Order: sequence, then structure tokens, then C-alpha cells
Amino acid sequence: MCGIVGYIGCEQAAPILLEGLKRLEYRGYDSAGISIYQETIQTIKTKGRLADLEEKVNQLGGAMGNMGIGHTRWATHGVPSDINSHPHLSQNGRISLVHNGIIENYMELKKFLIEQGRTFVSDTDSEIAAQLFDYYYQGDMVDALIHMIEKIRGSYAFGIMCRDKPDELVAVRKDSPLLVGIGADGNFIGSDIPALLEYTRDYYLLEDNEIVLLKKNEVTVYNLEKNIIKKEIFHVDWDISSAEKGGYDYFMMKEIMEQPEALRKTLFPRITEDGIQLDGVHFTKEDIDAIGRIHIVACGSAWHASVVGKYVIEELTRIPVEVDLASEFRYRNPILNKGDLCVIVSQSGETADTLAALREAKRQGIRVLAIVNVVGSSIAREADDVIYTWAGPEIAVATTKGYTTQLAVMYLIGLYFSYEKGRISKEQLLQYCKALHEIPQGTEKLLVLDERMSQLAKVYAHSKDVFILGRGIDYAAAMESSLKLKEISYIHSEAYAAGELKHGTISLIEDGTLVIAVATQSHLFEKLLSNIKEVKARGAKVIAIAIEGNKDIETVADEVVYIPETENIFTASYNIIPMQLLSYYIAVERGCDVDKPRNLAKSVTVE
Ligand code: AGP
Ligand code: GLU
Repeated sequence: MCGIVGYIGCEQAAPILLEGLKRLEYRGYDSAGISIYQETIQTIKTKGRLADLEEKVNQLGGAMGNMGIGHTRWATHGVPSDINSHPHLSQNGRISLVHNGIIENYMELKKFLIEQGRTFVSDTDSEIAAQLFDYYYQGDMVDALIHMIEKIRGSYAFGIMCRDKPDELVAVRKDSPLLVGIGADGNFIGSDIPALLEYTRDYYLLEDNEIVLLKKNEVTVYNLEKNIIKKEIFHVDWDISSAEKGGYDYFMMKEIMEQPEALRKTLFPRITEDGIQLDGVHFTKEDIDAIGRIHIVACGSAWHASVVGKYVIEELTRIPVEVDLASEFRYRNPILNKGDLCVIVSQSGETADTLAALREAKRQGIRVLAIVNVVGSSIAREADDVIYTWAGPEIAVATTKGYTTQLAVMYLIGLYFSYEKGRISKEQLLQYCKALHEIPQGTEKLLVLDERMSQLAKVYAHSKDVFILGRGIDYAAAMESSLKLKEISYIHSEAYAAGELKHGTISLIEDGTLVIAVATQSHLFEKLLSNIKEVKARGAKVIAIAIEGNKDIETVADEVVYIPETENIFTASYNIIPMQLLSYYIAVERGCDVDKPRNLAKSVTVE
């Protein structure tokens, strides 16, 4: 989902494309490439950094031409490599295409195109689009693009050049960002404003499935019926820095707001009319029945997602699940039995302790399934199987979309195993799938709490200690809430099993202590209500997080934040959202560097 730049005009295209891709570097990427038109299409692409691409372009004596497309890749299908980098060419070299997003039905399209005699050189889903466009191309690029996207399911932003059309570029988007830059000496496409801000402040903001035909001094936008659409110019007066954060003050807020899209990309391709599919990760019923114990191993927020995963997977499958901190697991001589499954969870896929834990499990001959966000990362490469969280690059040190998409994958695994074991019927599975499908929208609904959490932050920003209580899955979810607060606002916070409070810690509750009570588990609600009363009796201020419609809690808590109804086992996905927002605003109120908290790194690649 990383970055696209395109240009057609009076200037040399290569410098504009390379500069534009540099402006997209902040979004994270693993490879890059450009295609330039000069009598024919010249394509230069490489795994690695933009500097490597520039070096390749210079080694070739530059790339001359006034039209081109460029791409920075965040791999989802096919590891980062030269051949998997974009732009991708059709087999006959006539079409060059760049793509951001995920083509969900790429296998069926690839099969169709192979039957038409086409051969492929890469492992990506995007190469399918280049070949499919060429398959439909009969001389009109807009027509070919319309035919192509009618066949594609998934998310996309495409930029496309054709060897027969030296004066035309076409582009379209659906779910992945793309906009058109209207310049004095040419016209542009770009994934976001920073890529083009140096050249123009005037843009067309494309809606899903609006097709744009770019010429040097003419831009035409069509709908799928090839009717011309009149677009308003969007004039931007941002500076570059605020543009990179999409207009937000910090990447963390941008990434909090990206969670609905990240969850759609992670969940939707895996929820079918028939149930759950895990991207070709093969677990037969026999494999699953043979699993004596699941060991989930991770660090930090990934470990919190793992604790939630334990509750969910045990509830659904009755397979015993053990959760370990990777830094402990790797040294405690863990007892792993034949047939056990080890699940390794890591956003970056590079955390040293987690990688070491993976190697320990493999040393003991245990099958390893990784849940990772970065394709081609060390953990992804060394695991036996990988299920990706398609959250896209996460820049802020404090994870948000990385964590909530890890939860989503835990649900998928739990449901898949539960159904295969015959513990839930097809009807129950489809009922759960319906609830899963609603999580992105439910998350979107919660993001409007933004303003309210900002107000609450002003009241509690100078708390000395914060306790976050919960029972069952709410306790597991409270762990992540506590870390969010600690790592970006530097306030001491503890997640506590609400039933454990009276065994010591309640002595710390005093007048004005902030207690956040996570009360979404219906079967444990009355118990938690008593715990709220216990801390209230000692002077605590209580913010409760509860399911919409639960009015009883308003009689005991000082503030109540409601989350949408969902299955009990999915509530962790929702109750973290207000806590992400509250932690963010408390950190801002305290003048902390939200994206780069003191002493922390985004990926802890050392012990
Ligand atoms: C979470 O906000 C922190 N950035 C940290 O706890 C992180 O979750 C941990 O370091 C694990 O990182 P990983 O998921 O990339 O392995
Ligand atoms: N799914 C495509 C690939 O893996 C595009 C990824 C991206 O958005 O960079 O190459």
C-alpha cells in the first residue's frame, strides 16, 4: 500500500518520480522502481532503498523521457525482491503498471490468464493486473482499464502506461489512496499530497473507481460508464511535514484513524461466503486434532494480543493455549511436545527475542505459524507458515493498527480451528463471520470519541498512577491499554485482574486515583460492578468502558464510554480504541513526543 507517483509534461520525468518517491519514504517500503517512456518503456527497479534505485538509474546513464510512473512497494504477495518490485510489465512489454493494494482474486485471474497462454515472472498479485490490462487493451486505455477493474476484487490504486500511447497515462483507485496533481508544466498522479507538493498545490481527489486519463495539458476523469465527471480543484496550503502525516499532528493519530481500512484489508479477503480461509496456510482437521497445546510467543503489544488470543482460541477450540513473553520463553527451556503448535506474533517481524523464540521452537521440531505485518521480514521468512496483518506500514513507535489487526488474525485462527474441530456448526461460524465483518465499521464508529477523549485527557493528564481493571478478555485487553498510556505519556499505569485487586493492590487506591474499568464481558459484569464500588469507596475516579445500552454502570462510574455490541470474544478490538485516543491526548497534553517516546524504538532488534 506504499506509494505511487506518475508524471506527464514538459519536464524530464525521472527526477520528478524519484523526488516524489522520496517524499513517500516516510510510509515505509521494501523496494522501488520507475518506468519512463522514451520511444519505448524503460523500467528500472530494485529491492532495497530509494538510494539503490537512484544508483541503478545513474549507472544506466539516467532515464530520459517526459512521461513515467514510479512505485515504492510494501510487499503483501511475494517477498521483497528485484523481480517482485514494481512497475510490472505485461508479457509483451507493451504495458507498464504500478499498484498499491491487494488483489484478492489474483489466483483465479492468474489461472485464467495462464489459460490464455500468458506466463508470469513474479510472485506478486500486481503482475496479474498488468497482464489483464494488456489482455483487454484494444487501442483505448480507458476502455481497457474499465474492463480490467470490472474483473478485479480487492483494493487498488493503479498507474498505467502503454507503449502505443506516448502521450497518455491512466490511473484509478479503490480503497487505496490516489490523487491527481494539476501542474503548470504537466500533470501528476500520487498516493498522497507530499509526493507532489513540490510541483503543485492543486489536486483532484479521486473517489473510488473514478478513472483518470492524463495528458500533458489535459486531465479527464471518467466514471465506470465512461461518462466524464467534473471534478473540483482541491487547493492545498499545507507544508510538507504536516502533509506526510495526512494533516494529523502525529503518525500515531493517522494510524489510529487508519484502523478501519487496516482491518478491512486483514479480514475481508479471509472471510468468504463459506467461512474462513487462511491464505493457503494448510491445517487439515487431522493437523488441528493433533495439536496438544498452542504456545503463543511475543513481546509488548504483540504479547497483549497473544493474551487476548489465548482467551479467544481456548473459548472456541478448547485447545490449551500457553502465552509466553519471548524474552522468557527463549531461556526457560520450554517444554514443547510433538504435535504442539507455536504461534509467533510480531508487527515488525524483526524483534530479536521473538525471533530467538521462533528458532527455539523450530529447534525442538515444533511447527511455527507467524502473525506478522512486514512481508519478507526475518520472522516471516523463518516461520513454517505466515498469516499477514495487512495493516500497511506503521511509523509511530506505539502500535495501534498493528495490534488491532493482530487481534483480527487471532479471531480468524480460533474460528478456523474451532470449525475444523467440529466445535461450532457452519451456522455458528457464519454468525461469527458476520460479527467479524462488522468490526471495521464498528471501529470507525468509535473513532468519533476523538473529541470526548480529548476532553477527558485534560481532566486526567496529570494523574500519578492509573489502574486499568478487567475480568476475562477485558483483563487481557486492559494490558494493552495500560502500555499505551505508559509508553507515550510516561504515566505509571497497571492493568489488573479486577478479582485480584483485593489481594494487595487496592491499598494503593486513594482519593482521586484514576481507575479505568473495562466492563464488556456480560457474564462477568456483576462481579466487575462490585469491584468498581470497592475502588469508589476508597476515593477512586472511575472511567468505565461498557457495551452500548448498559445503563446500570452509569450509577457507579464517573464517566462511561460505550462500545458497539459484538460477540463477547471480539470486544478487545473495540475497547482499545477509546484507550488509544485517551493515551494519545494525555501524551499531547503532557507535551510528550507521541511518535517517538523517550527510550523506545519501533523494532527492538537487540536483546
Ligand atoms: C507497542 O506499542 C511497542 N511498540 C512494543 O511493545 C512492541 O509491541 C514490541 O516491541 C513488539 O514489537 P513487534 O510486534 O514488532 O515484535
Ligand atoms: N500487493 C502488491 C504487492 O505485494 C502491492 C503492495 C503495495 O501496496 O505496495 O506487490
